[in-house]
Amino acid sequence: MTKRRIRKAVFPVAGLGTRFLPATKAMPKEMLTVVDKPLIQYAVEEALEAGIEQIIFVTGRGKGALEDHFDISYELEDTMRARGKSLAAIDGIRQKPGSPVYVRQQEPLGLGHAVWCAREIVGDEPFAVLLPDELMVGTPGFIAQMVEAYNDVGGNIVGALEVADSETDKYGIISPGKSDGRLTEVTALIEKPKPGTAPSNLMIPGRYILQPEVMRILERQEKGAGGEIQLTDAMAQLIGVQPFHGFTFDGQRYDCGDKAGYIQANLALAWQREDIGPSVRAFAERLLQGRREGAV
Ligand code: G1P
Repeated sequence: MTKRRIRKAVFPVAGLGTRFLPATKAMPKEMLTVVDKPLIQYAVEEALEAGIEQIIFVTGRGKGALEDHFDISYELEDTMRARGKSLAAIDGIRQKPGSPVYVRQQEPLGLGHAVWCAREIVGDEPFAVLLPDELMVGTPGFIAQMVEAYNDVGGNIVGALEVADSETDKYGIISPGKSDGRLTEVTALIEKPKPGTAPSNLMIPGRYILQPEVMRILERQEKGAGGEIQLTDAMAQLIGVQPFHGFTFDGQRYDCGDKAGYIQANLALAWQREDIGPSVRAFAERLLQGRREGAV
């Protein structure tokens, strides 16, 4: 199979974010910040680092802040310039003309349906999918590592990460075949199997490189787990037809769709920062000290 370059990335961002209410009542969950940057920007930067040229947002009502974030902030920039302030913090967020592209998913019918909404923009070429709830920290980033693996084996590649056996019903789960380094053959995929019934504890952490044929399968609009059109089910139908691998990321995953994971991401990233790290670490030390002394 010829390996065509991955130029496009789809970001499903139409989700309602009910798990983060009330924070996400009037604000897209993808705009939640980790330290000082919204989740969506981490994901977009991860894609750009991997050589992605076109960013495609599958968005919905009430998500206007995402569009504004990647646009010029005319008054802000003008005023900052007039006051001689540095624009370094926002330089580079704006994309080149023609990107991002926005399509709307009118109804929340599932992740597979969201990806399918981007079919006309993706066209007949392989593409990446990134779920911005999952914050991935690595050098290089997750999608860059996956693109490198794709350049070897082609076909379809999904992220693969071990979770506790008790958590398989939260994720798409891989049935693994032979492994070679970071790549594992995928022999089956199941969306959210109950603990005890899962073929493994290897889950898909929201990073995908897919061939365009998956769109033809999604077109059938077949419903799976939870009554939703599942990307996992459509991908499963490509196994045996096209190469299909899981890829183990060399880096750290933070599940920012979960409150505890989100706080951990903030703490971990703040901890490493040169500017605020020392004061965060000192505060954490005081907290621990208080706990040792029974004050917390
Ligand atoms: C989605 C996918 C699932 C994947 C997960 C990663 O589930 O359907 O296969 O493992 O994202 O976060 P959701 O979190 O939308 O229920």
